[in-house]
Amino acid sequence: MTMSKLRPLPTTGALTGILEALAFFRDPNFAQRRFDRLGNVFETSMLGQPMVFIQGSKAIADLLSQPEAIEGWWPKSVQQLLGSHSLANRNGASHKARRRVVAQLFSSSALQRYSPGIINLIDELGEELKAAKAPLPLAERMRRFAFSVIATTVLGLEGHDRDKLFSDFEIWTKALFSIPLALPGSPFAKALKARKRLIEKLQEIVNQPINSKGGLDLLAGGLDEAGIPFADEDLGEQLLLLLFAGYETTASALSCLMRELLLNPQLETWLRKEIDTLDWPPTPEQATMAYDPTNAQRLDALVKEVMRFTPPVGGFFRRTKKSLILEDDIVVPNDRVVQVALIASNRHGIGDLDIFRPQRHLENESSLSLMPFGGGERVCLGKSLAELEIRLMVVGLFRKLQLEVIPDQDFTLRQIPSPSPRDGLLVKVRG
Ligand code: HEM
Repeated sequence: MTMSKLRPLPTTGALTGILEALAFFRDPNFAQRRFDRLGNVFETSMLGQPMVFIQGSKAIADLLSQPEAIEGWWPKSVQQLLGSHSLANRNGASHKARRRVVAQLFSSSALQRYSPGIINLIDELGEELKAAKAPLPLAERMRRFAFSVIATTVLGLEGHDRDKLFSDFEIWTKALFSIPLALPGSPFAKALKARKRLIEKLQEIVNQPINSKGGLDLLAGGLDEAGIPFADEDLGEQLLLLLFAGYETTASALSCLMRELLLNPQLETWLRKEIDTLDWPPTPEQATMAYDPTNAQRLDALVKEVMRFTPPVGGFFRRTKKSLILEDDIVVPNDRVVQVALIASNRHGIGDLDIFRPQRHLENESSLSLMPFGGGERVCLGKSLAELEIRLMVVGLFRKLQLEVIPDQDFTLRQIPSPSPRDGLLVKVRG
């Protein structure tokens, strides 16, 4: 490659980025429209922040294969609300050290330990749906389930502790992707206060004698990059990150999956042929494997298609520490934020990618490279837990119940912070 063949970044020409930011929040096809015009890599400005958007397997692979030239990055609001100790906001050796410690919560033996708790939550939900006299919003129940898995099963919280955490956490989440101005009474100011209470509560939990309920004992002895045990505040911020990262995302994937199944009777029949061959509940020893891709191919294809079609995280970010080259000839300068635009990328390619069709993942579809959990050194730590929760929930509910949706409701998806049916996906048990 000769230097003369290199070319500068295609750009929208936006300077202040005010209109671009408004369009980004309003238009689900924001990135797609610009990719169509400018190609797979382009630069724009978002409220004064230059931002490079990329799509397609080549550009994404090029970015992630140059770890020495990139580091993690999150918007200011997320940075402030997560805190400076959070592994999401760290880079280099200190990121690696915390990641290693937190990863212990998601090892296969840890997942095996959580499985009976997850199965109980699913059975309880099944009973609640059966007994309900009026339609229930399934999306809200998926949120509650995903929160309980992290709060109760992983962190070992119960009763009042968990409820207190939940209400502050909802205040905190609302401001995550907002403008980080702490004007009195603003959502951001309220979220900062909620954050203070959350961290205090989480620190208190870390200091309680370790109970055998959650997985926190697995973190005992966590050391930082200098070999010193983590401070309580540091650990508290890692736990806050887990609540944030594992709750909205998993709830969104579950709600979107249920929506597709319940609105497409043919799809449900196709899946049920497989589900009816599976036993419920699985034994604790088998729970992590019973419905994996070797035993439940259709379920795996369905989960992949939900992640492709309505990715819970629409994009993830990196910041360049040096200039780098994407797609063989496009130069991205140093100190640029790069957004991997998953929503657009997942529909970019040949064929019927605008249609929800899980069967594509059982065919030889080589052009698709999906990254719903990100990639490289910062790939999602909770991937296996999220996949386990989703598989158990689908088999657990559909093995026992026939659900139907209430017709007069808005089935469209709100997009921010993660896709979710607008009217909550009201359902009742058939029969
Ligand atoms: C369907 C559910 C989920 C999706 C789609 C998802 C997606 C993602 C994505 C896209 C990233 C950014 C990766 C990158 O920058 O390359 C991420 C990071 C992360 N996720 Fe998840 N996630 C899910 C569930 C979970 C769960 C259940 C947990 C844990 C309880 C979790 C914990 C984390 C953590 C700790 C990080 C930060 C990793 C780091 O910076 O090193 N996620 N996730």
